[in-house]
Amino acid sequence: MESQKLPVKELITQAIAALEHAYTPYSEFKVGAALLDQNGTIYQGCNIENAAYTPCNCAERTAFFKAVSEGVRGFEAICVVGGKQGVLEEYAAPCGVCRQVMMEFCDPAEFKVILAVDEDHYDIYTLAEILPMGFGPANLA
Ligand code: THU
Repeated sequence: MESQKLPVKELITQAIAALEHAYTPYSEFKVGAALLDQNGTIYQGCNIENAAYTPCNCAERTAFFKAVSEGVRGFEAICVVGGKQGVLEEYAAPCGVCRQVMMEFCDPAEFKVILAVDEDHYDIYTLAEILPMGFGPANLA
């Protein structure tokens, strides 16, 4: 899939919809993600918190693990949205752990990370831009 054909607005809409399912009784910071695979399928994810705190899972990893657990390995892009109480006022950039999970399954020069506030306000980065000198499977080959 060519990058200029990325369904950016659809990914933003689906990430915002996914945010509605966020389970965030502790931080009240709601995050939604929409992950596009190489076949055009979109996997939604939300953050899922836990009373024991360490089991909390970010929206991005929820989306990745849903897809990977269904056998998907090739990805094009992910859109991430988030905000306190689910109010989208600024970009919610992926945490370091989520960037590392992206590094495991994506070509850092090609994979796109879309940070959005709404369908008309977004920026697109490559994984390499947000994870410089990332360590991944190629380092162990
Ligand atoms: N969170 C995400 O879902 N994605 C990120 O990349 C950053 C943080 C979640 C985790 C936690 O539920 C809440 O946001 C506050 O950190």
